[in-house]
Amino acid sequence: MPNPRYIYSFNYDYHHAELCKLESRHIFNEAVLNKFLFSNIKVDPSISSFIKNRFEISISEDSYSRLLDKLKEENICCQGFKAEYMLLEGDPTEYTERLKKLKDIGILIEGKPDVQNPSIIYSICNSNDIWHFGVLVKRNTDWRKHKNKPYSFSNSLCIHIAKTLVSLASKGNRTTKLLDACCGVGTVMLEACYAGLSIEGCDINLKSIKHTKQNLEHYKYTSRVYCMDVKDLTQKYDAAIIDLPYNLYSYSDDVITSNIIESTVKLSSRIVIVSKSDIEAVIKKSGLKIIDFCTVEKRGRSMFTRSIWVCEKEV
Ligand SMILES: C[S@@+](CC[C@H](N)C(=O)[O-])C[C@H]1O[C@@H](n2cnc3c(N)ncnc32)[C@H](O)[C@@H]1O
Repeated sequence: MPNPRYIYSFNYDYHHAELCKLESRHIFNEAVLNKFLFSNIKVDPSISSFIKNRFEISISEDSYSRLLDKLKEENICCQGFKAEYMLLEGDPTEYTERLKKLKDIGILIEGKPDVQNPSIIYSICNSNDIWHFGVLVKRNTDWRKHKNKPYSFSNSLCIHIAKTLVSLASKGNRTTKLLDACCGVGTVMLEACYAGLSIEGCDINLKSIKHTKQNLEHYKYTSRVYCMDVKDLTQKYDAAIIDLPYNLYSYSDDVITSNIIESTVKLSSRIVIVSKSDIEAVIKKSGLKIIDFCTVEKRGRSMFTRSIWVCEKEV
């Protein structure tokens, strides 16, 4: 990519590698490789549970001394700055050398640093022997508070999957109007609300809807939830998420699955579907085209594999 504007760094457990790649294919139009990627697309790192930093490139040079010369010419003057080294996979620079380089950078920036509470973070990194200087925006991990939501159940989606489903449905676009067609206790809704998206939820089960409402209220989010069969919803949405019943707490079979999917197809043209079973044939029969797919293992007391399909209505 000639002159990319951003470098994104990522962090994930190995069992979430495919999930992270799926997400990056829909936010950045390319899969993350070696836990970082270059892109011209600007997103807030906090929309993903895997993005660690966004590095906005202002200088790129194939020699470190030329990078320092360029930085000198910039005459940066800033009070309360911090300098941080962004270590990317494949960068052989040792720790003491990295500290030395941070000192070099700090000397060339005029102003008093503030390491504890910086007004801006300047950063350098090395990828394939090219040195980059720029501004670093770190993710805000405030969303982790949702792990302590008042109501949960053992097979609720984990926060990483819930955040990824929101990114997949919205493609990182905050103006997307979303539906959580089988919202359960509202795990996905909390992540959409946190990301500033408009989302409505629907569930056929009264107890689930009560728990969703209490979970939303707990974090002061205001979203509409409908206690009804999704087949009776009439609103239209830009995208929908369906975490299908797993036939554990709520009964499910192919007829129920196809009814839920076909009802949601009438409300939205982009649908992200999660299921414990292989329902590819049911999805295709409902008039959806599968555009992407991955599987994620569920860890913990009950272990199983979830499949995630990103689908769009056939035109
Ligand atoms: C796997 S759970 C969703 C869990 C949710 N994602 C969470 O993490 O809390 C599936 C949900 O689908 C709901 N459901 C089943 N059939 C439905 C239908 N026809 N319309 C709407 N919701 C339905 C069930 O009540 C159940 O809460």
